[in-house]
Amino acid sequence: MKVFVGQPLVEPSTRELLAGHAVVTGGGSLPRTEWPLLADADALLPTPRERITAEVLEAAPRVRIVASHSVGVDHVDLAACRAGGVLVTNTPDVLTDATADLAFALILAVARRLHEGEALARSGTWDGWKPQELLGVSLAGKTLGIYGMGRIGRAVAVRGEAFGMDVLSFERDGTEEEFREFLLKVDVLSVHAPLTEGTRGRFGAAELSWLKKGAILVNTARGPIVDEEALVAALHSKHLLGAGLDVYQLEPKIHPGLLTLPNVVLLPHLGSATTETRLAMARLACTEIARFFAGEPPLNPVR
Ligand code: DGY
Repeated sequence: MKVFVGQPLVEPSTRELLAGHAVVTGGGSLPRTEWPLLADADALLPTPRERITAEVLEAAPRVRIVASHSVGVDHVDLAACRAGGVLVTNTPDVLTDATADLAFALILAVARRLHEGEALARSGTWDGWKPQELLGVSLAGKTLGIYGMGRIGRAVAVRGEAFGMDVLSFERDGTEEEFREFLLKVDVLSVHAPLTEGTRGRFGAAELSWLKKGAILVNTARGPIVDEEALVAALHSKHLLGAGLDVYQLEPKIHPGLLTLPNVVLLPHLGSATTETRLAMARLACTEIARFFAGEPPLNPVR
């Protein structure tokens, strides 16, 4: 069988688990020039960077499984897969702690102004301890609002409690009034919902204005859930104290307004980026394909 892998994975994954199959690896983002490689592929193993559209599936007529190397599957056209009888799987659980750790690292980085402090320490201009230098905000006693209380949201909540924060969460099926009441209480908002038509643009100018003045927004889920134009405005006006972002509306492009703001910490989609986690994700995606070829049921089917 032939497996097309979107870009090189952490090994040993394909090497061990897909031994005996022909594995062809792309260079990332699946440009049209790579599409001829899909013509005789039986399985696709994309990362969030490779969009599996209806057109891609047409270029891969033999494919019966798309095993995504991610928990989020917004880069896969699920309706087109369903229509074509293509199974989709993802890699939940194995990345929960790594992603929650990174979300909390961003919360701390913004609250304690780590990147500004680091820049000052490296600048050669720092002349010593000052009572009023680079004051951040304390987390203990503040309210951590979790938007999307799934596995990762719950893991961030545990970390927040350990830091003495009060945790509130919002269920995505709550009413607009409940959403507003939730946001009005939040000092630190951490976004953990999947990207769907219901969550796209969920945080626009109005929703950001409902957050407490001086609130912090952290997004390690998907960029398009937050309207970046509105976020830049809320940061400029100082309604928000700062933001920590790992994902972007037009990823990998980053809104130029974010690049110049001092109270924003920007990371290149590193939520699951530990060696252990990326290896576990790669092995899980490969396992799904090996099981599928062996006629075994999927471990993590996406319905
Ligand atoms: C995912 O898995 O969806 C992350 O965004 C990448 O690890």
